[in-house]
Amino acid sequence: MSEKIALVTGITGQDGSYLAEQLLDKGYLVHGLIRRSSTFNTARIEHLYRDPHDPEARLFLHYGDLTDGTRLASLLERIGPQEIYHLGAQSHVRVSFDEPEFTGDVTGLGTTRLLEAIRMAEVPARFYQASSSEMFGATPPPQDEQAKFYPRSPYAVAKVYAYWMVRNYREAYGMFACNGILFNHESPRRGETFVTRKITMAVAAIATGRAHELYLGNLDAKRDWGFAPEYTDAMWRMLQADEPDDYVVATGTSYSVGDFVRMAFEHVGLDWEKYVKFDPRYLRPTEVDDLIGDASKAREVLGWQASVLPPELVGIMVDADIAAAGASA
Ligand code: NAP
Ligand code: GDD
Repeated sequence: MSEKIALVTGITGQDGSYLAEQLLDKGYLVHGLIRRSSTFNTARIEHLYRDPHDPEARLFLHYGDLTDGTRLASLLERIGPQEIYHLGAQSHVRVSFDEPEFTGDVTGLGTTRLLEAIRMAEVPARFYQASSSEMFGATPPPQDEQAKFYPRSPYAVAKVYAYWMVRNYREAYGMFACNGILFNHESPRRGETFVTRKITMAVAAIATGRAHELYLGNLDAKRDWGFAPEYTDAMWRMLQADEPDDYVVATGTSYSVGDFVRMAFEHVGLDWEKYVKFDPRYLRPTEVDDLIGDASKAREVLGWQASVLPPELVGIMVDADIAAAGASA
């Protein structure tokens, strides 16, 4: 049987890098969309990459942008993927308040461009959309697939639009298209301006004497934090199911940002109150206060369940940042 071919947008991001690793391990040929940049943006996937002249190469990277629909269509025709994992997005909630139009273009319309490219190129690929728990916004927990969307940021509004485009292409054209409604998931590869990684990097810097303080915004917001590689496995499971559907992926636990801070400092034997300071610049005009996912459907249909919960996750991330600090010292 010939190898399966997958296309991953956002392959240079946290999730894209774990997913690419897992797909390569399963024997897929993996194609990734990357943005042209004057500096390299491929650090998270460098360990997977081989020169394309190498007969063993199984990962192939292509320049392209979610704002360029023509390029998406021509790439799809050339690659002919059976599975498409659409992870590319302007994914930072705070930034989306500063750049609402750009966020709508990339995170919202980018999904439509890709769906339309699939339709125009007549590629019978299964499609995964990186939907988000941010779409629930102000709706109180627990949130499952039936919970109401009440987005609280330009990012979340763009994701709601993309969610419904995926549903519409599924219903209108019979596409095998799924929404994974993923709650926050973190790892040592998490972007450095998301709160968990910002905290664990600061704790590592403080513990090794390279920093003395950490500025944060709202410590009261509660999140359902899981471990990213488990969540990319859920994405793959969705595209192997008999029918296309939408799934919540979450741990079902709730910790505040303050809890995460405390656990991270405790992990290295420090008292967080001596180091953490408030900076209003990290507040959002509208906040999402409380997210707790109910992933019963993913457990029942996909056999998926989270095993790493926040106390363990904090340890994994702090240890990795301390190891990285040691390596760069
Ligand atoms: P991430 O680390 O921010 O990665 C985003 C990826 O999108 C990067 O590869 C980035 O490329 C790419 N990208 C951004 N703008 C693009 C454009 N105009 N054209 C092409 N590619 C573009 O995000 P993540 O944490 O891996 O999340 C993956 C996806 O899941 C995102 O759609 C995010 O919104 C969604 N999501 C994430 C979570 C979470 O907790 N992590 C939860 C729910 C949903 P560069 O490397 O060049 O910037
Ligand atoms: N980034 C950041 N920086 N957040 C802070 C800070 C800070 O200095 N101080 C407090 N916070 C609070 C935010 O106000 C928010 O309530 C919480 O920490 C989490 O913020 P982020 O880590 O930036 O993540 P997010 O929950 O807004 O969004 C992430 O998760 C979504 C899924 O629910 C992103 O990965 C989104 O792309 C994803 O869809």
